[in-house]
Amino acid sequence: MEKKSCHLVMSGSLQPVDCSMPGFPVLHHFLELLKLTSIKFVTPSSHLILRRPFLLLASIFPASGSFPQETMAKMEVKTSLLDNMIGVGDMVLLEPLNEDTVIDNLKKRFDHNEIYTYIGSVVISVNPYRSLPIYSPEKVEDYRNRNFYELSPHIFALSDEAYRSLRDQDKDQCILITGESGAGKTEASKLVMSYVAAVCGKGAEVNQVKEQLLQSNPVLEAFGNAKTVRNDNSSRFGKYMDIEFDFKGDPLGGVISNYLLEKSRVVKQPRGERNFHVFYQLLSGASEELLNKLKLERDFSRYNYLSLDSAKVNGVDDAANFRTVRNAMQIVGFMDHEAESVLEVVAAVLKLGNIEFKPESRVNGLDESKIKDKNELKEICELTGIDQSVLERAFSFRTVEAKQEKVSTTLNVAQAYYARDALAKNLYSRLFSWLVNRINESIKAQTKVRKKVMGVLDIYGFEIFEDNSFEQFIINYCNEKLQQIFIELTLKEEQEEYIREDIEWTHIEYFNNAIICDLIENNTNGILAMLDEECLRPGTVTDETFLEKLNQVCATHQHFESRMSKCSRFLNDTSLPHSCFRIQHYAGKVLYQVEGFVDKNNDLLYRDLSQAMWKAGHALIKSLFPEGNPAKINLKRPPTAGSQFKASVATLMKNLQTKNPNYIRCIKPNDKKAAHIFNEGLVCHQVRYLGLLENVRVRRAGYAFRQAYEPCLERYKMLCKQTWPHWKGPARAGVEVLFNELEIPVEEYSFGRSKIFIRNPRTLFKLEDLRKQRLEDLATLIQKIYRGWKCRTHFLLMRKSQIVIAAWFRRYAQQKRYQQIKSSALVIQSYIRGWKARKILRELKHQKRCEEAVTTIAAYWHGTQVRREYRKFFRANAGKKIYEFTLQRIVQKYFLEMKNKVPSLSPIDKNWPSRPYLFLDSTHKELKRIFHLWRCKKYRDQFTDQQKLIYEEKLEASELFKDKKALYPSSVGQPFQGPYLEINKNPKYKKLKDAIEEKIIIAEVVNKINRANGKSTSRIFLLTNNNLLLADQKSGQIKSEVPLVDVTKVSMSSQNDGFFAIHLKEGCEAASKGDFLFSSDHLIEMATKLYRTTLSQTKQKLNIEISDEFLVQFRQDKVCVKFIQGNQKNGSVPTCKRKNNRLLEVAVP
Ligand SMILES: Nc1ncnc2c1ncn2[C@@H]1O[C@H](COP(=O)(O)OP(=O)(O)O)[C@@H](O)[C@H]1O
Ligand SMILES: [Mg+2]
Repeated sequence: MEKKSCHLVMSGSLQPVDCSMPGFPVLHHFLELLKLTSIKFVTPSSHLILRRPFLLLASIFPASGSFPQETMAKMEVKTSLLDNMIGVGDMVLLEPLNEDTVIDNLKKRFDHNEIYTYIGSVVISVNPYRSLPIYSPEKVEDYRNRNFYELSPHIFALSDEAYRSLRDQDKDQCILITGESGAGKTEASKLVMSYVAAVCGKGAEVNQVKEQLLQSNPVLEAFGNAKTVRNDNSSRFGKYMDIEFDFKGDPLGGVISNYLLEKSRVVKQPRGERNFHVFYQLLSGASEELLNKLKLERDFSRYNYLSLDSAKVNGVDDAANFRTVRNAMQIVGFMDHEAESVLEVVAAVLKLGNIEFKPESRVNGLDESKIKDKNELKEICELTGIDQSVLERAFSFRTVEAKQEKVSTTLNVAQAYYARDALAKNLYSRLFSWLVNRINESIKAQTKVRKKVMGVLDIYGFEIFEDNSFEQFIINYCNEKLQQIFIELTLKEEQEEYIREDIEWTHIEYFNNAIICDLIENNTNGILAMLDEECLRPGTVTDETFLEKLNQVCATHQHFESRMSKCSRFLNDTSLPHSCFRIQHYAGKVLYQVEGFVDKNNDLLYRDLSQAMWKAGHALIKSLFPEGNPAKINLKRPPTAGSQFKASVATLMKNLQTKNPNYIRCIKPNDKKAAHIFNEGLVCHQVRYLGLLENVRVRRAGYAFRQAYEPCLERYKMLCKQTWPHWKGPARAGVEVLFNELEIPVEEYSFGRSKIFIRNPRTLFKLEDLRKQRLEDLATLIQKIYRGWKCRTHFLLMRKSQIVIAAWFRRYAQQKRYQQIKSSALVIQSYIRGWKARKILRELKHQKRCEEAVTTIAAYWHGTQVRREYRKFFRANAGKKIYEFTLQRIVQKYFLEMKNKVPSLSPIDKNWPSRPYLFLDSTHKELKRIFHLWRCKKYRDQFTDQQKLIYEEKLEASELFKDKKALYPSSVGQPFQGPYLEINKNPKYKKLKDAIEEKIIIAEVVNKINRANGKSTSRIFLLTNNNLLLADQKSGQIKSEVPLVDVTKVSMSSQNDGFFAIHLKEGCEAASKGDFLFSSDHLIEMATKLYRTTLSQTKQKLNIEISDEFLVQFRQDKVCVKFIQGNQKNGSVPTCKRKNNRLLEVAVP
C-alpha cells in the first residue's frame, strides 16, 4: 500500500496524517460520510488515508450517528433543513395536508421554540412574545451565505437569500411582511434590516448610512406607534422602506413611504389604549427646563388628549425612550432647532386639547361658542407665534368662499370642538409626514449611480374590531391588495419555475380576491368611488345617504351585504344592524359602521384654521399648512382621504410588482401578548385568512419538493452502490441511477433542468429514512473498523508492554534469587565457622580448666602440707591477735582519714565528717567535742587581756539580759566603751575630774527623768569603783553621789527602751529625794558594768528586775512606773509622763 498523507482542516489546524494502518478500505466511506455529515475538507488528492478522523469519528459518532453540538460548532457544517426537524420545517412536506395538520405543525414547532416555518420560500413567523436567543451575532454568522434550505427556518435565511440575490443577481427585492396587529411585523422588519446591516459592507461611510437607516426606526415609532389592546407598540401607520445598495451590496441610503397615520388617535383613544408614544415620552423624559420652554407640565392628567387609564405601559420606560429618540434624531441628522420645533408642535397639539368652549347665545338666535379659559390659547399662541385674536376667531367663525364671495358663519360649541380636534389631528399627521420627509432627506442616497433596491413593507395587518370604521375599511382594503399581489406573485413564481425547469404546469384552483378589490376600488361603482361621489355631491350629505347609495350600487355583489341590499340573505336578519354594511374579505367578514365615513373621507379642516396656521410665526407650522396661504387659494377641493390612499396603494403595488417578492407572514399565537400560549382557534383563523393552506397547495401543486441535482445527489448518494462513495458523472445522471436503484415509482418524480421534482412528501421521507438508516450502517461500519483497530492497537501495545515487563521481571527475579543464594551461603558459612570456633573454644576451655585444677590441687596439697607442718606454731592467740591487728588497722586508718578531713578552725563552723563505722560512734562524737573545745581554746588564746575583759562583760550582759530584755540583741554588736565622755581631755570638766580620785568605769550623758513631771534633763553619769555620781552636763558640777553599797536594785522594762530605775537603800543619805529614773542609749552596758562593779566591790549580786511595771520610791510616795505600747506619733523616742501620784507612764514606740 502506498503511503500518502492528507491535510484535514479542523478547528483551523493542519495535521499530516499517517496512513499505514488497517481499516483503509472504509476510508472512502468515511470521507464521504464526513463531507455529508458535517466536515469540510481540503482534499489534496482522492487517496486520502486518515488515522485521526477515525479517532474523531469514534468520539463523535456515539451510536446514533448524530454529531454532538460542540463538534458541530467547531466545524463548518453542511446540513439540511431536513436534519433534526421538529414537525416539518417546510409545510410542503406535510402529510396529510389539511388545516389541522398545518396548525398542529405550527403548534409543535412553537412549543419547541421554533417560531419560523417555511412554505417553500415563504417564512411563517409565530410571535413568541418573549426574547429568544436566536438573533445573536453568531446566528447571523450561521445563516450568512448559506442556502435557504440548509439550516432550520429563520427570518435570517430569508433576509440572506434576498440580500444575496440582490447583490449577486442584481434583482431588486421586496420583503412583504403581513399579519394581524401584534403578530410581529414590525419586529420582523427590524430583524431583516439588522441582518442586512450586519452582513453588508463595512466602512465608516457605510456604517453611517446603516446607522441612519436603523435609527430612523425609533423616531418613527415614537411618533407613529401607540399602545393598543393588541400590541404595546403597535404601528399606527403603514411603512414601506426602500433600502438602496450599490453594485457591491453596500447600502447607499433609503426612502421611506408612510401610509395613513391613524390620526383620530390624537384626540381620542379607545379604552385601554394610549395616544402616540411621543406625548408620554415628552412629558416623562423632558427636562424641567424644556418643559417650561414648551409651557408643559409633567402631569399626564393635565391633558385631555392623553388617556389616563393606561398611561403607563408595563416594561416601557418612556423617559429613557425619550432620550433614545432624541439621540436617534441627532444621528438621523435633525438639527437641534428642528428637533425643538417638532417638540413645540407636539406641545401645541397637546395643549389644543385643553381648550374648552362654552355656549353663548346671540340676540339674532344663532348659537355661538366662546373659549372658556383663554390662558391655554394664549400659551399656544406664544408657543407657535400665532396672533391670539386670529386663532380665537378661527375657533368661532367659519368662512366659506365661493366665487369671490365670502360668507362667515358662527360655530356652535360642537362645531368648535370639531374644529379644534380637526386642527389637532391635522397638525399631528402633517407633522408626521414632515418627519418622514425630513428623514428621507437625511437618508437619501447621495450618488446618482444605478441602485439596487430592497423594499421592506411593514403595513398594518388585517383588522376586525367590534366597531369597524373608515380606518379599518382602508386598512383591510390595503391587505386585500397585498393578498392579491401575494397570490399573483406566488403563482407567477411557481409557474415560472415550472417553465424554467421545463416541467408541465398543472392548473391550480385557488381563491382569487380580485373580486373583493374590485368591489372597493372600482372607479365607477367601487365603494371608495361611491364615497367620493357622495362627499363631493352638493346638498345634504350624510353617512346614511352614502349607505343608501351603496345599497343601490353594490347590492348584487356577492361579497357585499347590508340590511337593505337586495341579495342579502339577511334581508330581515336583525343581526345585521342599520347603518352598517358588511364585506366578506378574503380574511373574513367585517361589519363596518358607516358613521363617520363621509367626514373622515372629507378630512375637512376649516379654511380659517389653515389660514391661521399659515400665519404662524413658527416656521415649521407655517410650512405644514401651505393651503393657508391666501395667495395660493384653491377653491378646488383637496383629494379625499380615500382616493389619496387608493392612489398610494396603487403606486405601492406597482412598485412591488417590479421586485422579487419575499414573504414573511406573521401569526399571533394569542390575544394576551403572552409567551408560551398557543391559541389554536386564533391561529386557525389567521391560517385561514392568510391563505396558508392554499399557499401550500399552490406550492406543491404537482410536486411537493424540489431540489437541485447536486445537493440531492450529495444527500442520498450513500443509498446506492454506484453513487457511493463517488459518482463520476453529471449529478443528474447520478440522481437518475440512484432513483432507479431505489425503485422509486416514476410517477413520483420528474427531472427538471436543474432540479429534481418530487411529487409526494412521503417519497422524500422514505428517502430520508433510508438515508438515516444507511448513515447509521456506515457509522456502524466505521465504528466496527475503528473498534477493531483500537483493540488491535491496544493489544499490540499490551503485548509489547508485556514483553518489556516480563524481561524486567525476570531480571529482577534472578537478581533477587542470586541475592538469596548469596546470603544463604553466608549464613551457612557463618554457622560452620561458629561451630568450629565453639568446638576449639570448648577444647581450650577444657584444657585451661584442667590446668587450673592441677594448680588448685597443687596449692591445696601444698597448703595441706604447710598447715600440717606449721599447725603447732599459731593455734592459741591467732584469732585475738588478728582481731586486734585488724582493729588497730581500722582505727589507724580512721584517724589518718580524720586528719585530712578536719573542718576549719572557726568555732562557729558546724561541719563534721560523717562517722565511718558504727562501733566508732562515741569516739567520733568525743573527737568532735574535743576538736571543738580545742579550737575554741585556740581562738581564746588569741585574745589580749583587754579583749578578754570585754568578752567577759559581754558574757555577763548575755547572761543577764538575753531573752529577757528586747533591747539586748541590738547591744550585742556595740562594743562596751565605758567612759564615753572623755573628762580628762575636756577642760570644761576639769573641776569634775579633780573631784574624782577613783578610776572611772562609766562616763556618759544620760537623761534623768524628773520625778514630778516625767520631763528629762541631761546629766553626766559616772561610775567609779565605789560610787555612782551624777553631774551637771554643762558645768560638770556633781549633783548627787551614791556609794554603790546603797544601790539595792536596778529595774527596767522588758521592752526596747533605755529607761531604768536605780533603787536606793531606804534611809541612806542619797535616798532623800527617792530613787533615780534614767534613760540611756547604753543601758545594757551600764547595767552590766554596774552589776559587775557592785559584785567585785561588795561581793553581793545586784538585783536586776526586768518587768514592765515596777514601783519606785519618790520621796514618800511609791510610784508605779508602767510601760505601755506607745503610738508612733512621737517618733521612735520613748516618752515619759507623770499621770498621777501613783503612776508614771512610759510610752515605748
Ligand atoms: N421575533 C420576536 N421575538 C420576540 N418578541 C417578538 C417578536 N416579534 C414580535 N414580538 C413581540 O410582539 C410585540 C408586537 O410585535 P410588533 O412587531 O410590534 O407587531 P405588529 O407590528 O405586527 O403589530 C413586540 O412588541 C414584541 O414584544
Ligand atoms: Mg407594527
